[in-house]
Amino acid sequence: METIMIEISGINKWYGNYHALKDCSTTVEKGDIVVVCGPSGSGKSTFIKTVNGLESIQKGDIRIEGLSILSAKTDLARLRTRVGMVFQHFELFPHLSILRNLTIAQTKVLKRSKKEAEEKGYALLKRVGLADHAHKYPSELSGGQKQRVAIARSLCMDPNVMLFDEPTSALDPEMISEVLDVMTELAQEGMTMMVVTHEMGFAKRVSDRVIFMESGEIIDDTSTAAFFSGDTSARAKSFLSKILNH
Ligand SMILES: Nc1ncnc2c1ncn2[C@@H]1O[C@H](COP(=O)(O)OP(=O)(O)O)[C@@H](O)[C@H]1O
Ligand SMILES: [Mg+2]
Repeated sequence: METIMIEISGINKWYGNYHALKDCSTTVEKGDIVVVCGPSGSGKSTFIKTVNGLESIQKGDIRIEGLSILSAKTDLARLRTRVGMVFQHFELFPHLSILRNLTIAQTKVLKRSKKEAEEKGYALLKRVGLADHAHKYPSELSGGQKQRVAIARSLCMDPNVMLFDEPTSALDPEMISEVLDVMTELAQEGMTMMVVTHEMGFAKRVSDRVIFMESGEIIDDTSTAAFFSGDTSARAKSFLSKILNH
């Protein structure tokens, strides 16, 4: 049985002359929860966005379930339905109801019927604890609720992998845990996840592995236990002590 979900091999990316990703490689198995951390500007967002083709790479390869994202045969729109992504800012359509936000890509990209898409939308709203909010508009929800809608919207596409880029860093402190709780449940249900976050409690409790990046490089790629016991580079240790003591 194939157990490798994501295989990232020697990827490099330049923004103009700026070398943003330097020979980054890692493998994510099915069901793995991988946390990516590192200082601001180290390339975490760029790295995670390459995984569903939102950022192009100039060298190296990325395979999702064996399929190269560089292959001309790969339909990127289709790939993005299998690799869901949740950003720091929720990017919901402000002029559409919550339910419509959840159904629009299902009907347009997956060609589901309205009825089927709405059933799925309701089921996922229920799952993130927002069943009563289907007919509201994004502006009527709190930040934490909007982020849970964004997660539900991604899940409506039946992804095999979920990518998160600092999903809680724009939230007020009291809303962080409601989002992390949804992510923790998803992890426990066996979803494969890559999560850029500085929520070290979540990393310690939920992740299997931690990747530490600096200046576009993967400096450490290790088990969560090793990461938190300090069995890492000096740079990762210093980073961890700073964020734990801030
Ligand atoms: N679209 C872009 N054009 C030029 N430089 C960029 C672009 N996006 C990011 N960068 C640069 O690439 C580096 C890594 O950025 P990013 O991946 O956003 O880091 P992080 O998410 O770790 O804060 C930064 O120096 C940033 O300024
Ligand atoms: Mg970032």
